[in-house]
Amino acid sequence: MPSTPAESTGDASMTSNLLETKNLSKTFSKFGRKQVALDNVSLSLRKKETLGIVGESGSGKTTFGKVIMGLFPATSGEILYNDAPITQADRMKIQYIFQDPFASLNPRMTVSDIIAEPLDIGKFQKNERKDRIDEALLKVGLNPLRKNRYPSEFSGGQRQRISIARALVSNPECIICDEPTTALDVSIQAQILQLLLQLQEELGLSYIFISHNLAVVKYISHKIAVMYNGAIVEENSSSALFENPQHEYTKQLISSIPTLPKRATTHHVLETV
Ligand SMILES: Nc1ncnc2c1ncn2[C@@H]1O[C@H](COP(=O)(O)OP(=O)(O)OP(=O)(O)O)[C@@H](O)[C@H]1O
Ligand SMILES: [Mg+2]
Repeated sequence: MPSTPAESTGDASMTSNLLETKNLSKTFSKFGRKQVALDNVSLSLRKKETLGIVGESGSGKTTFGKVIMGLFPATSGEILYNDAPITQADRMKIQYIFQDPFASLNPRMTVSDIIAEPLDIGKFQKNERKDRIDEALLKVGLNPLRKNRYPSEFSGGQRQRISIARALVSNPECIICDEPTTALDVSIQAQILQLLLQLQEELGLSYIFISHNLAVVKYISHKIAVMYNGAIVEENSSSALFENPQHEYTKQLISSIPTLPKRATTHHVLETV
């Protein structure tokens, strides 16, 4: 079983930055009024590590992820990938997992076609495409024999595994997980978090993990940034943030933490059909 970041003793200073933002800002114009969604956000994500971003609804978490992906242009600031300004080719190495596994999977597409979507831009032979889909399903603990079924035939946790398989199929370096467990039952949440930890260890992935739930973020993150009204009010290693929170909002978040169930042990077992 993979260790959680809090348990690992690896020397984080040995790894370098994959992604970095410098004074990243994003302002939306709504009915002629300006809405600052990101306010000078400077954060970094090291290779093979997880940067957790926690904050209340509307604090700018998704906007941060979408600006990194290039889905919204930044108003100002820089995004660096491997220490150079991010390019379209770099963005191909980043995948996004959305919060709601019911809304984010097209109900009229088979699992196979959903997972293959990120491959559509490349020129893959039919066989390679099939192999990649099967491999991605196996990595998330789903049986490839079920790939011609539709999302409605799967549970919430299985659908989120399908979303993760779709994110993995193009062999990304980084995955932005935007509230990937929020819509799930608590016991299923723990299984998905375990799966993400295991995949990080196996594949050397870097994650940006977005959630309003500090307990979930702590479980998976090496470093946590607390976002409030579009700005980062506090940033620290997971353990230091909990031991010595500085900002009033962080203290409130810690005091309102619900408890997670014990870690699941059966998370990665291949299903039987
Ligand atoms: N496409 C958009 N057009 C205009 N305003 C937007 C747009 N997307 C986000 N905003 C605004 O930017 C702010 C930050 O929104 P964002 O979705 O990033 O927050 P969030 O932290 O992800 O919230 P949640 O936890 O509810 O998902 C909000 O005030 C929101 O209304
Ligand atoms: Mg959001």
